[in-house]
Amino acid sequence: MLDTLGSLEKTHSCGELRETDVGKKVVLMGWVAKKRDFGVLTFIDLRDRDGVTQIVVSEETDLDAHEKAKALRGEYVVAVRGEVFSRAEGTHNKRLATGDVEVHVHELLILNDAKTPPFELEKMGSQNLASEDLRLKYRYLDLRRPTLQHNIRMRAKAVRAIREYMDGLGFTEIETPILLKSTPEGARDFIVPSRIHTGKFFALPQSPQILKQICMIAGLDKYYQIARCFRDEDLRADRQPEFTQLDVEMSFANQEMVYRVIEGMFTAVLRLIGVELPNPFPRMTYAEALRRYGSDKPDLRFEMELQDLTENLRGTDFAPFASVLENKGEIKALVVKGKADYSRKTTDELQEFVKRYGAGALAWIKLGEETTSSLLKVLGEAKIAELATAAGAEKGDAVLIVAGKKSTVAAALGALRLEVAKRENLIDRSLYKPLLVTEFPMFEYNDETGQFDAAHHPFTSPMDEDLEKFRTAIEDETQHHLLGEVRAKAYDAVLNGYECAGGSIRIHQKEIQALNFKALGLSAETARTRFGFFLDALEYGTPPHGGFAAGIERTCMILCGTENIRDVMAFPKTASAQDLMMDSPGDVDNAQLKELGIKIAG
Ligand code: AMO
Repeated sequence: MLDTLGSLEKTHSCGELRETDVGKKVVLMGWVAKKRDFGVLTFIDLRDRDGVTQIVVSEETDLDAHEKAKALRGEYVVAVRGEVFSRAEGTHNKRLATGDVEVHVHELLILNDAKTPPFELEKMGSQNLASEDLRLKYRYLDLRRPTLQHNIRMRAKAVRAIREYMDGLGFTEIETPILLKSTPEGARDFIVPSRIHTGKFFALPQSPQILKQICMIAGLDKYYQIARCFRDEDLRADRQPEFTQLDVEMSFANQEMVYRVIEGMFTAVLRLIGVELPNPFPRMTYAEALRRYGSDKPDLRFEMELQDLTENLRGTDFAPFASVLENKGEIKALVVKGKADYSRKTTDELQEFVKRYGAGALAWIKLGEETTSSLLKVLGEAKIAELATAAGAEKGDAVLIVAGKKSTVAAALGALRLEVAKRENLIDRSLYKPLLVTEFPMFEYNDETGQFDAAHHPFTSPMDEDLEKFRTAIEDETQHHLLGEVRAKAYDAVLNGYECAGGSIRIHQKEIQALNFKALGLSAETARTRFGFFLDALEYGTPPHGGFAAGIERTCMILCGTENIRDVMAFPKTASAQDLMMDSPGDVDNAQLKELGIKIAG
């Protein structure tokens, strides 16, 4: 028989009691985390969202309670009434905030029983986790773990700090619809069929981009929203199909004004964990980030910059390098300090790693007692020594070299830089390194379609300095390739190697917008079908405007020190975009499909 709660109320949480509470009569409620039976005495670790308190049930104090305690098992829900005592000499537990005290029970109520959990919650230190799929299926049990409880609350604090900050600057929180029309972030849409308009579909927002711009046209001036976004794209460790952004837009804004909001917002949020970010944030252009780090989101917690060996190898007759140079490629290197003793196995593994990024091979030089190199036979000792010096390597170091197309070399060495840093433990996890990456390219060449795509989205403004080039490239067919050189008023905020925010100054003049659609190969007709309402709006006195969106999950990953986005979401989806707890996506009734006018093919 289970007990009822009745009018009983808890006086404290399970994480609250301290030595100063000794002597108090208290009521605690929570879950049985652990039970140890010593005959006349039973010890229970009682857990709630705040922590764990040791409960002592003694045959002598209360026979009835002691009998009941015998029946308790893991995750039973109990209430105890008792008195706070200091723990006996030598039994204090320094690892628990409540570790100096224990509660001696006078009354024990079993409020609910529990099936044996499919995995042991107590064993789940970060070392010893059950498979993630199992934990996601029983998310409500996994969420009882202190780490996840902490993360979920930290996320709530971050969102509150963001709201306070934005409100303080005079921004207005505005909700935009979830049932929308396709928005332009470049991923696939999730679509929702309309019953009333059979055969028509809403699209869920990939972001509120167009609507926030319309808010500026509407004269709302400073908008923000904690916005849910939906993108049907391939998932990675820091991506989910459904995620949340702090979405911001401001009128009469230039880049500097937006940067100040980004900096202030991240500064306010990082203060939650006692971190003071530099003011202003360091800045780097996109081109410089790629040149020095092989990435537009460099992790600046460690150095290891890419070294350019292209000029040292110009004129080489080593065929693979010669052909790369002939095709305007590059040859670059990373110096790994003190790793001249890298084994063949390690360099082979690293070679396999860079191949995943399109590199043909990984050449190496090891400056051990003797200098060895995969290139020794083909380049000779003197050249190898020259390359090592040019790369800035010293005795004891390893030099890892990749040759190829510029973009391939950057991708391969940028990824290798992170891989080596992880392997060699080069990242100081107490550091928080923000960076504003500026002057992103306006377009990206798409090898498959042979066209230029918007690198950010089609409403991003070209840089004033590149307007001429932008116009020429569009108006003169023979100069189309110049689009690849046009820079945009687009920027990202990077924190510890994560792209935490992105934004731009937008096009506010319809003539430039029309040119941009042309550059993207969007016919006036297609542009009108997709964004007609927006193009109309642009004609009614659009102020210059710009903004950004920051990923709430990515920011919280940094606050919580995790590399898994699921650790900062209450109900995340798997890497294959499923909810294992609810078993969604799921089937739909035939009747419902019929009503929507939908037939499943095949
Ligand atoms: P962008 O697409 O760069 O810009 O997104 C802004 C930020 O949102 C986060 N983010 C994600 N987080 C988790 N899972 C995902 N799938 C995911 N995709 C993006 C990142 C990213 O920096 N409308 C523009 C913003 C603007 O121009 O104002 C936009 O959405 O942290």
